[in-house]
Amino acid sequence: MPAVVVVGAQWGDEGKGKATDQLGSRVDYVVKFNGGNNAGHTVVVGDEKYALHLLPSGILTPGVVPVIGNGVVVDVDVLFQELDDLTERGVDVSKLRVSANAHVIPSYNRTLDKVTERFLGKRQIGTTGRGIGPTYADKMSRVGLRIQDLFDESILRQKVEAALELKNQILVKVYNRRAAAVDEVVAELLTHAERLRPMVADTALELNEALDAGKTVLFEAGQAAMLDVDHGTYPFVTSSSATAGGACTGSGIGPTRIDRVVGVIKAYATRVGEGPFPTELFDESGDFLRTTGGEFGTTTGRPRRTGWYDAVVARYASRVNGLTDLVLTKLDVLTGLERIPVCVAYDVDGVRLDEMPTDQSAYHHATPVYEEFEGWSEDITGVREFEDLPAAAQSYVLELEKISGARISSIGVGPDREATIIRHDLLG
Ligand code: GDP
Ligand code: IMO
Ligand code: MG
Repeated sequence: MPAVVVVGAQWGDEGKGKATDQLGSRVDYVVKFNGGNNAGHTVVVGDEKYALHLLPSGILTPGVVPVIGNGVVVDVDVLFQELDDLTERGVDVSKLRVSANAHVIPSYNRTLDKVTERFLGKRQIGTTGRGIGPTYADKMSRVGLRIQDLFDESILRQKVEAALELKNQILVKVYNRRAAAVDEVVAELLTHAERLRPMVADTALELNEALDAGKTVLFEAGQAAMLDVDHGTYPFVTSSSATAGGACTGSGIGPTRIDRVVGVIKAYATRVGEGPFPTELFDESGDFLRTTGGEFGTTTGRPRRTGWYDAVVARYASRVNGLTDLVLTKLDVLTGLERIPVCVAYDVDGVRLDEMPTDQSAYHHATPVYEEFEGWSEDITGVREFEDLPAAAQSYVLELEKISGARISSIGVGPDREATIIRHDLLG
């Protein structure tokens, strides 16, 4: 099973980090192909808890080659902070490869991200403030800075000058901020250049060669389908392609190479930041999910919005990603609930919709049509075989499987690497 893509099937934070980490020992490469340090993946290994942002979760597994693909936006300071933190904790990070074509997040884009949000006021997106949106915008506008530019000071200077010509007008005249100085920006970007140089590679070539040689490559998405710039709840999305297609464009491999697409999905739903979320709960059930599930952002610490499982979203994510498997996470969090509502369709102005409305306004006032399932009260965190789950938990999973568009191959019953029930081998 050479190429496997792992994506988020909701609004992020589904547990992609744990899913990747779990497959770690059986894969040769783990590639991050989109996003940047807006992502936050918590991985628990024994007594150790790691919070990864820019680095692919595969970095925790000895032997794996972690790759930052061309589709990623790299904050170089954050990269070295993360590498240093992991090194201090005894993780070998020496195999990391970084695409020469990945874009760099300059400090002026962090500033622009934050001031744009403030300017938007009520209409803000609730971004992570890491400069992600402005850096992808620069990439598309062809005024971005790439990793390879850091190794030629005169080219870097020309590119920064060109970018700042417009950016400084915006910073000063629209946002009333200080102009960014070319010299300062260049110096900042060059700080880590020499340290970075040995890691930089033609990662697309390396990955294709690895696949040719029969190696196993796992492509790990940041964010999720509903935050994807094309398929998500635009404009309340991130600025990259977080769906399976992004694995190709963001790493330089062709779609014919992908064998399996795995969607990670929680047994309920969460969202961070603004934007529509039909099953959102504002009552004590929502507090229960937030508290029991530890739903506070890995990146910004913000409390996550919580709601019931949304099968319309699951079916949509299955479709736009071509999912072959679902990894259902956090089933343990639902323990203790008497009844568990699941959204099976939406009601939009009295009309039942079984699939996602294409119209943004319709989605903003879609209300869930719920079906209720029986809960269970037994502790399931120690269960490792599907048949050992309480009957009601088994039936909850089977019901979700029927309406979610792909088979449920693995079930998470706790944050730990081992706390997983495998139904179908994801690499088999
Ligand atoms: P990611 O961004 O998709 O990698 O997800 P995050 O790491 O942001 O959020 C998922 C959280 O859920 C992390 O704190 C994980 O340790 C935790 N987690 C993952 N799977 C499970 C599970 O099956 N049960 C429980 N209780 N926690 C889980
Ligand atoms: P992982 O990989 C959850 C959300 C932000 C905001 C929107 C745009 O951990 O699942 P951005 O800073 O990307 O421009 O913000 O996207 N967002 C995430 N929400 N998990 C993430 O990553 C996210 N990355 C971005 O909250 O609403
Ligand atoms: Mg996360």
